[in-house]
Amino acid sequence: MEKFANKKVVLAVSGGIAAYKAADVASWLTKNGAQVHCVLTKAATEFVSPLVLQSLTGHPVVQDEFVTGPGWGIVHIELAAEADLLAVIPATANIIAKIAAGIADDALTSTVLAATCPLFMAPAMNTHMYENPATQQNLQTLRQRGWQVMSPANGRLACGAVGRGKLPAVEEIEQELERLFLAAGTKAEKSDRLDLAGKKVLVTAGPTTEAIDPVRYISNRSSGKMGYAVASQAAARGAEVLLVSGPTALQPPAGVRFVQVESACQMREAVLAEYAKCDVVIMAAAVADYRVAEPADHKIKKTGDNQEMTLRLLRNPDILQELGETKQQQFLVGFAAETHNLEEYARGKLAAKHADLLVANDVSRADAGFDVDTNQIIIFAADGGRQAYPLTTKLAAADYILDAVVEKINI
Ligand code: PMT
Repeated sequence: MEKFANKKVVLAVSGGIAAYKAADVASWLTKNGAQVHCVLTKAATEFVSPLVLQSLTGHPVVQDEFVTGPGWGIVHIELAAEADLLAVIPATANIIAKIAAGIADDALTSTVLAATCPLFMAPAMNTHMYENPATQQNLQTLRQRGWQVMSPANGRLACGAVGRGKLPAVEEIEQELERLFLAAGTKAEKSDRLDLAGKKVLVTAGPTTEAIDPVRYISNRSSGKMGYAVASQAAARGAEVLLVSGPTALQPPAGVRFVQVESACQMREAVLAEYAKCDVVIMAAAVADYRVAEPADHKIKKTGDNQEMTLRLLRNPDILQELGETKQQQFLVGFAAETHNLEEYARGKLAAKHADLLVANDVSRADAGFDVDTNQIIIFAADGGRQAYPLTTKLAAADYILDAVVEKINI
């Protein structure tokens, strides 16, 4: 079977000299079975003929939003809705800025704004334009929103300058697209996917807070976004979901049963009360490892000139480990937030806590782990398996995790 059979790709081409190379990518995708729909800016048509792209892909090329004719609805909405992947090749400084600002004033930018599929871009431009803080900030914004952004190559540019800004080699772009496809699955496969119907899934999320006194506590930087994304996607896939959450600023997802806790001990109680009935438990919470031994029942006052204060801490129960040691039918997924030796520590936790899967995230990165909307995860399995995923939104990362669960429990 062709590599990309059933995949629909929107290939968005903006107006830079490298636009003609989009034809090679379009041809390669088509030869491998993908349905490729090209959307060009007006400037792009100066660099590559729409007829070339149409001939290579077998589909009409979209150049404005107001295309009419048999079979066409609202073109940018339809293209976006059906795409399994949207790739901007090449992405000029101008189109990057427009996308980062959410501007939708032509077919390409309107399609991008309407897209909910994985998003990819390969920037290409003059070195100074690429290095300009405005472009760098725009690219950073897009990465944080989950875009896969390739770094341009070094070399001689069309303007005669030598430096960073060249479109990467077409083969490298193709490798990157292949990796994204592998991780993403098709929209058709994903839609109406109620593959967790009938399953009871318990998800923990957020931090725990450990009281020092009635107004102070020890906690961590977890926002709850990762766990809430898992709960929301599990519910969308048909599971009966219980979300046990530490304090966060988030609204519980629709259709999810919700229990709010504060401390690790409360989280343990809430989880144990439901554990026997669960099919899957996913522990995304950042549970505090220690609690204050004797929290004060009144606000602690500063006394005299005392410059020091000592808090005695007690080790909290390890909830996941306890679940692992007593598990029956339950499928257990733990997380590991690490800043170094990610793989070694993650595998260690997987074994020590008797989990079935362990989702590792590198929390030293600015675009992964705590509080941001994106994550880059590696999933380790108890049978020795390892699968790394691209940087993506926490919602998409949640689906990767649920895909791995479904595969392992063979539903
Ligand atoms: O909430 P966000 O801002 O979106 O950030 C997401 C996240 C970084 C918090 C999340 O992706 C993550 O990595 N969660 C686990 C963080 C963590 O505490 O890891 P850990 O290595 O300390 O714990 C390993 C596992 O044991 C975790 O599944 C944890 O829930 C569990 N644990 C830990 C300690 C404890 N006392 N009891 C536990 O059950």
